[in-house]
Amino acid sequence: MRFRRASVAFLFAVFLVPPARAAQGPSALEVLYPPDLTFSGEPKVKVFAFRGSKGEPVVPVVNGKAVAPLDGETFLKGEVSLATGLNLINVGGKNLRVFVLPNAVMDTFRLPYGKAGEDRVFRSYRLHPALDDGCEACHMLEGVKLKAKDQKKACYGCHDDFTKGEGGKKVFVHAPVAAGECTACHDPHFSARPKLLRLEKGCFECHDPFPTTGTVHAPVRAGECVACHSPHAGAAPKQLVRPGNALCLGCHKEPHARHRSSVVLGALTRVPDDFPVERGELSCTGCHAPHQSPNPRLFRKPQEDLCRTCHAV
Ligand code: HEC
Ligand code: HEC
Ligand code: HEC
Ligand code: HEC
Ligand code: HEC
Ligand code: HEC
Ligand code: HEC
Ligand code: HEC
Repeated sequence: MRFRRASVAFLFAVFLVPPARAAQGPSALEVLYPPDLTFSGEPKVKVFAFRGSKGEPVVPVVNGKAVAPLDGETFLKGEVSLATGLNLINVGGKNLRVFVLPNAVMDTFRLPYGKAGEDRVFRSYRLHPALDDGCEACHMLEGVKLKAKDQKKACYGCHDDFTKGEGGKKVFVHAPVAAGECTACHDPHFSARPKLLRLEKGCFECHDPFPTTGTVHAPVRAGECVACHSPHAGAAPKQLVRPGNALCLGCHKEPHARHRSSVVLGALTRVPDDFPVERGELSCTGCHAPHQSPNPRLFRKPQEDLCRTCHAV
């Protein structure tokens, strides 16, 4: 009997929904932050959410207790106080687990599940400070749909435009930056990685990794691509942070004294016209590869061939 009544009520509910709204679908609440299994070193957490149309106030429930409703109509935000240990937060029907250990700094925190299940891994995230200024800097509403604004306009609204060199100097811009694809590398909201990065394999997410055989340049081995290349735009081609030999001399303050000058005094040496030279000095990268080489000393060619380029032996 009870069951039947419920189904009648259900049928009514379905038929009472106006067709137009049914087509658009209900505007469910999307909780942007915190994601489930968040770790916090503070006894509180910020809450950010979105819904396509205005509605009843959204009242988060923290460990079974209703707290103050979130601010806002469509872009919603707030902050909830938490207890030390495991907290269960419910926002608009979504259950989120947040683990709190005051003053602890940890990237991940494992909570064992008992003998059978897997561990629960909680992660700490760094939030983009832009979120505190609201969502509208980067988003607009199109009907009930959330749309991201053009990233060149949105991000450069608060950050320096990388394509404009300081004092009008020419800069060499990385293709994804020129295309305004900041989110190819950055998460616009929050990330477990520094600098809001979302790249798991760093630069190799898009570029082929260099061979790890032969001689590998120490900063390349260490994954310090940005020691030489800006991820955004550099003073020299290939987004290099410094042009020519100055790049190498930034770390190798006093490399070998020989093979610096391009001036030839003896009769048995001749520097070919196509060998790269800058202001009277041989280019370091004329003889050494910047990343990796099958030869010792990062030589561009096997040693004997290299020497023969200039020395008659
Ligand atoms: C700094 C710019 C920026 C801010 C501020 C921002 N967003 Fe976003 N958001 C984006 C971009 C860009 C995308 C497009 C997705 C992408 O490219 O990864 C996006 C995507 C989304 C999505 C789609 C799901 C997803 O993660 O891809 C949701 C939901 C969202 N944002 C909610 C919000 C809410 C809620 C706020 C405010 C609390 C907010 N955003 C603030 C830039 C921003
Ligand atoms: C409403 C202003 C605002 C907008 C819009 C904005 N940012 Fe930010 N962003 C900030 C502030 C403030 C900081 C922190 C101070 C700083 O590092 O400049 C920051 C920091 C960052 C950082 C460094 C984070 C760290 O951990 O050091 C990155 C990366 C970043 N923003 C990327 C973006 C991207 C990508 C966009 C566009 C999708 C964007 N920002 C749009 C205000 C903004
Ligand atoms: C190819 C990947 C990539 C793209 C595309 C990219 N970034 Fe970055 N960004 C990085 C990396 C890597 C860092 C960290 C650099 C470091 O550690 O020195 C960074 C750092 C930043 C920072 C922190 C301050 C700084 O300059 O170090 C801001 C702000 C930033 N990016 C904004 C942007 C904006 C805005 C865009 C789009 C116009 C963008 N990024 C596009 C990879 C990228
Ligand atoms: C989201 C994908 C993406 C990521 C991540 C990325 N790049 Fe690129 N990069 C490109 C594209 C696309 C081009 C242009 C096509 C090309 O020339 O290969 C490019 C071009 C380059 C070039 C110039 C290549 C040439 O022959 O002129 C260099 C140097 C470079 N990237 C370095 C880096 C470094 C260093 C990083 C890490 C900080 C990085 N890239 C991360 C997409 C990416
Ligand atoms: C010691 C400085 C240095 C470091 C570190 C470095 N590069 Fe380079 N990179 C250069 C130079 C210089 C060039 C210019 C090409 C040349 O002279 O062979 C270059 C060129 C490139 C190119 C253009 C294609 C090519 O191979 O010539 C890409 C892509 C690139 N680098 C990616 C990376 C990535 C990814 C990393 C990190 C794993 C990295 N670089 C680390 C100095 C460096
Ligand atoms: C970010 C710092 C840094 C930059 C920039 C840099 N190097 Fe290095 N390089 C190192 C380190 C560290 C080592 C390993 C320790 C050493 O031998 O000094 C090294 C080693 C070398 C070696 C010896 C490799 C071997 O295994 O025999 C050569 C050759 C070399 N670098 C050439 C260059 C050239 C050419 C450039 C410019 C394209 C350059 N370096 C730029 C840090 C740098
Ligand atoms: C004409 C070729 C040539 C040029 C140009 C050249 N090198 Fe070398 N480099 C060598 C040779 C050969 C060695 C092996 C040691 C030696 O003979 O001095 C070497 C060794 C090195 C080493 C390994 C450490 C050592 O001293 O054994 C470093 C670092 C280095 N060079 C950096 C540089 C830098 C930086 C530049 C540019 C300022 C540069 N080289 C320009 C040929 C060259
Ligand atoms: C890009 C051309 C070039 C290459 C490649 C080159 N050298 Fe040289 N080398 C020179 C120049 C220029 C001098 C200065 C000679 C002069 O003034 O006559 C020189 C000088 C020397 C000297 C000192 C000679 C003296 O009389 O002081 C030695 C030894 C030497 N090179 C060895 C080598 C070796 C070994 C290689 C291969 C690993 C090599 N060079 C590769 C251009 C080069």
